[in-house]
Amino acid sequence: MKLRFLVFFLVCFSIQLSFGADFFWGKTGHRVTGEIASQHLTNRARKAIFKLLDGQSLAIVSTYADEIKSDRQYKKYSPWHYVNFSFDKKYGEEQPNEHGDLVKGIEKCVAVLKDPKVAKKDKAFYLKMLVHFIGDLHQPLHVGRGEDKGGNTIQVRWFNKGSNLHKVWDSEMIDSYGMSYTELANNKAVLSKEEIRKIESGSVLDWVNESQNLAKEVYKTANVGEKLRYRYSYVNFPIVREQLQKGGIRLAKVLNEIFG
Ligand code: ADE
Ligand code: ZN
Ligand code: ZN
Repeated sequence: MKLRFLVFFLVCFSIQLSFGADFFWGKTGHRVTGEIASQHLTNRARKAIFKLLDGQSLAIVSTYADEIKSDRQYKKYSPWHYVNFSFDKKYGEEQPNEHGDLVKGIEKCVAVLKDPKVAKKDKAFYLKMLVHFIGDLHQPLHVGRGEDKGGNTIQVRWFNKGSNLHKVWDSEMIDSYGMSYTELANNKAVLSKEEIRKIESGSVLDWVNESQNLAKEVYKTANVGEKLRYRYSYVNFPIVREQLQKGGIRLAKVLNEIFG
């Protein structure tokens, strides 16, 4: 009887693990956004950032906020990777997550970086976090529904393996495409000055609303248990690439404002 109970427990535990939430664009997505941002920096901002990061690239530091997640001392930053609020409400109309969210996280990073009294070490930390969070903001399901954890609990199949809708948008489509982050960053759409200016316009909250509107559409693209494959990428990967590019352009805009 005891053994049966143990087996039951272990099965439940492993199911729980495989259903566990992912909180991030995969590494490649974040790096693309970092790399594109570095192509849009002013000289002043580039120099200031080079100094703060001791020469590390924005692409390299873009995954730092995920890397520290397994360290308990950084646990409080976990809710900063996403923001969920009802699809019929504006951000702020609903009781915010008391532990913080993506919007509050970005605001904190910007405030620290603008504060002349903050030490270099702390500025470097919040700069790395900011690079990551502006990336997350452009994954539509990071502005998803709370009840399904931004699609993390919507199980689907990706080709022949189990996955979930969130993960498909974080990493499956990007990884299946098989390009490195530099290849993706260097093969981005060629935009006119006017198009870039349009992407740069607006505030963080406008970009949150834009992502939420995309999230509403993303939820319609797949049903629970559905097997997603080439056709899904064919239709949706262009949106992912556009979001990565917007993320890069807007990250540069925010950094140019801080350091420019
Ligand atoms: N956990 C809860 N909501 C989430 C979201 N939108 N994205 C990632 N992880 C989450
Ligand atoms: Zn993240
Ligand atoms: Zn994610």
